[in-house]
Amino acid sequence: MKKILSVLLALTMVLALAACGGSSAPAATEAAAPAATEAAAPAATEAAAPAEEAGSTITVGFAQVGHESDWRTANTKNYQEVFSADNGYDLVFVDCDNDNAVQIEAVRTSIQQGVDYIILAPIQSAGWESVLQEAKDAGIPVIVADRQVDADASMYDAFIGTDCEVEGELAGKWLAEYLNGAEANILVIEGSVGSSAAIGRTDGFNAIAAEHPEWTILDSQSGDFTQTGGQEVMESFIKSYNGKFNVVVCQNDNEAYGAMDAMDAAGITYGVDGDVIIISYDATHDGLKYTLEGKINCNVECNPIQAAYVDTIIKQMEAGEEFATYTLVEDQAFVAPGIESAYATTMTQEVLDGRAY
Ligand code: AHR
Repeated sequence: MKKILSVLLALTMVLALAACGGSSAPAATEAAAPAATEAAAPAATEAAAPAEEAGSTITVGFAQVGHESDWRTANTKNYQEVFSADNGYDLVFVDCDNDNAVQIEAVRTSIQQGVDYIILAPIQSAGWESVLQEAKDAGIPVIVADRQVDADASMYDAFIGTDCEVEGELAGKWLAEYLNGAEANILVIEGSVGSSAAIGRTDGFNAIAAEHPEWTILDSQSGDFTQTGGQEVMESFIKSYNGKFNVVVCQNDNEAYGAMDAMDAAGITYGVDGDVIIISYDATHDGLKYTLEGKINCNVECNPIQAAYVDTIIKQMEAGEEFATYTLVEDQAFVAPGIESAYATTMTQEVLDGRAY
């Protein structure tokens, strides 16, 4: 019924524009203003009345990456809170366990079930064209969340997430400021291969590294965004490069915990009082706790609280209103006490207390 109403609404808009002399009806994605990067997360129920009040429930299929990290757990919890029955939703949640084939199948199943909307947090950026076309053919709007897809933006309705390339650049700029011309021998523990989060952070950091001939990236291997992966990669790095490195870049907090365990076991000191500088990403509660303790030197945020933006977009689509087709969630960086930075906030207990995830 809702889909029939949507089609009628779209037809009405086309007819209204034609009556006004418009040559063609703008697609919603063309009409929408880009969202401001500075915008605060909208309250979940702020945008429009819950669909329940209109007597219908919005069914949303959510193909989530998995449960690989603390960040992901916080992101999932945020979606489950916002996409609640009380807010007018039936959330069909699928944990794809970091398996791309499972995720493609999850989206296909949502299409077959005839859900009203699909939220896709893509494990990998490549290979989404066919299934996005299938969703388009079925008339089901798709919102890409958290990570990017390589497919053209015309293949889906909206993107909302963080800019991981900017996060990588931020880490690199902070390191350049901190080292102030000193030599760096760097090991990188990357995130999941093929994910836009790993690709962006690697590209952003490498772009800054390219400006610093005094830096050498000794090695770069995937730890799959997990603590176990971070520990295994760090153990293997220690075998190959012990005594030769002074910077470890971990592309998320869980990898950093694993890397710290491996360095503890090998008697390698790290953090503000140690031999090795640690950079991490995510700035989850525990990541910031280690930053406050001086064990992680710099932690670049990736904000997992994203569901309210998607809720707003869906409510706007339901109401036939314009919606933002590209929304960047604001990020910042944090550094250990004793470090002053133009690029980052120095950690305090107050900042940590305010970090709920
Ligand atoms: O896509 C966001 C990344 O995915 C987070 O940095 C990481 O922790 C998660 O697994």
